[in-house]
Amino acid sequence: MTLYLIGLGLHDERDITLKGLDAIKACKKVYFETYTSKLNTAQHNMEKLYGKKITAIPRSFVEEDADKLLKEAKKEDVAVLIVGAPLAATTHIDLFLEAKKQKIPVEVIENGSVLTAIGITGLFLYKFGRITTIPFNNEKITSPYDVVIANQKNKLHTLCLLDIQETKMMTAREGLDYLIRQGLKKETLVVACGALGAPDPEIKAGKAKDLKITRFPQCILVPADLHFKEEEALSIWKP
Ligand SMILES: C[S@@+](CC[C@H](N)C(=O)[O-])C[C@H]1O[C@@H](n2cnc3c(N)ncnc32)[C@H](O)[C@@H]1O
Repeated sequence: MTLYLIGLGLHDERDITLKGLDAIKACKKVYFETYTSKLNTAQHNMEKLYGKKITAIPRSFVEEDADKLLKEAKKEDVAVLIVGAPLAATTHIDLFLEAKKQKIPVEVIENGSVLTAIGITGLFLYKFGRITTIPFNNEKITSPYDVVIANQKNKLHTLCLLDIQETKMMTAREGLDYLIRQGLKKETLVVACGALGAPDPEIKAGKAKDLKITRFPQCILVPADLHFKEEEALSIWKP
């Protein structure tokens, strides 16, 4: 049988692709990975639209009980729903590889990702360097800031993803305060993005010390040198 890794897109239950929906309808079991990102909708709205009961899986399930899930996929079609694109977070590659090793057919159904949705800011995607994630409990952690500095040296923009814990999502403000504590100049031009993929995403460009947004999930972009077209685009998002 087949293991389907299905991207849900970024905003709500209606961002699923027709291919994704067809696969869900054909599956006996439908799991929903709830810990690497969040949709702006409730699970019952997904169940209503997809016509299937969904089992939410917390962080521990996929990592520790992957065997159980793969065993099921040997006997029947199983779907794992993942917010955004299925393999944009490194977490799910293990599941994909393990299915391949066990000769379980695995199909990846793509969708939009935060990694491409940031294109709406006007910053050129090909000018981004390494992505980093700012974790909660970051007092002793320097690596996210090190990534920003290394990218800037190479004249590359940085996408800073923000930690998510079961019910808690880090705000761009908390992430920026971390970067400032690490040494980012308060006057640095940064971009904060919230609810990308929504019809009305919240995007603000401004000084690191000032920016605050309210829509979730959120991420931060730290631009390096700007092309004049990027400057023009960012002016749309300035207060
Ligand atoms: C592990 S990444 C998401 C990977 C996901 N599979 C994808 O392709 O988008 C999760 C982080 O991306 C950021 N993020 C996700 N969705 C977002 C959105 N719609 N708007 C802004 N930031 C978002 C947040 O910082 C969140 O904690």
